Amino acid sequence: MPKDVILALDFPNKSKTLDFLSQFKEEKPYVKIGMELFYAEGPSIVREIKARGHKIFLDLKLHDIPNTVYSAMKVLSSLQVDMVNIHAAGTRRMMEAAKQGLADGKGNTLLIAVTQLTSTDQETMNKELLIPGNLGDVVSSYAKNAYEAGCDGVVCSPLEVEKVHHDIAPTFLTVTPGIRFADNTTDDQKRVTTPQKARALGSDYIVVGRAITKASDPVASYRRCVKDFLGE
Ligand code: C5P
Repeated sequence: MPKDVILALDFPNKSKTLDFLSQFKEEKPYVKIGMELFYAEGPSIVREIKARGHKIFLDLKLHDIPNTVYSAMKVLSSLQVDMVNIHAAGTRRMMEAAKQGLADGKGNTLLIAVTQLTSTDQETMNKELLIPGNLGDVVSSYAKNAYEAGCDGVVCSPLEVEKVHHDIAPTFLTVTPGIRFADNTTDDQKRVTTPQKARALGSDYIVVGRAITKASDPVASYRRCVKDFLGE
């Protein structure tokens, strides 16, 4: 199964993004375009980065009524990115609608469902969101819904990967943010691990933002991440 490091391009505009990417002369990282960049620049930034040869995870985390998500996915499908996502909390029907929208748009895009954000911890989930139970069990239950709705995988923390692969299927993809080197701060993330630990736990893709983008030498940090996660 393909494993990779996905580099989160959390930048406010096109020029900062392209300046950052221009540092990568030898490799073409798999990149993630999120809300900030997409809302600032629109679909053209996706086309431009794709034309430069990068694989793209479009991280817009759709969560709305099924009909709206269906139509939005049909439009996004035409961008032919490699991966898109939705919130599993939107229900099985919403996830099925997303899948159908992608299929009707004739794209060949992996559909990934967010289970619980890696910035949410057990206490917040229980006491603020009023979702009872153990965080790992909730992630696994949302993952089961996603699997049954036809999704290709989930976003979760590396700490839940073994449970998802065990409870759902070893081939069900796990895309895991919340990655930090042992010498980094955690910022706003709560459920964090190192690239080595994510590898040991069986993550399929790690999503890394600030540990690379805010490093004094981003290319060296990206290479360190690839080495630690893929063992290359
Ligand atoms: O800077 P950092 O490595 O924490 O960035 C993580 C990236 O992954 C951010 O772009 C964030 O939006 C995204 N993400 C996340 N948790 C999820 C889904 C996506 O942190 N559940």
